[in-house]
Amino acid sequence: MSTLVRFGVAAEKKLIDQFDRLIEEKGYGNRSEAIRDLMRGELVTEKWRVGNRQTVGTLTVIYDHTRTEVEKQLTGMQHAEHGHVISSLHVHLDKERCLEVIVLRGKAKEIKHLADRLLSRKGVKHGQLVMTTRGEELV
Ligand code: NI
Repeated sequence: MSTLVRFGVAAEKKLIDQFDRLIEEKGYGNRSEAIRDLMRGELVTEKWRVGNRQTVGTLTVIYDHTRTEVEKQLTGMQHAEHGHVISSLHVHLDKERCLEVIVLRGKAKEIKHLADRLLSRKGVKHGQLVMTTRGEELV
């Protein structure tokens, strides 16, 4: 069981009012949980910035499978990097377009490097890496 510590934060009333409106829209029950989430977010961001810690992420990729060699290249790169690829989900959006979600693990910098290489293939229309965490260090 972790110990709860209370602390006070001074801020301009206008800033607090804006923050309270935001967290109400987002559905937080109170400021404490919203601030805890901000703290967790910063810790995860820092872990990805440093780059040498083990973590996980998901890469979403949109591409046209009828164009160039993109599907073959994306599949080939995932096989070559199978140690970093946990799983993938492929959705045929319509006759041409595909959506793929690739679940990645490894050091943050390795995941980012692989994601950049996948996203820079010709024929990839859009993509985004969600840099998350295995969560073992977060409370
Ligand atoms: Ni498809």
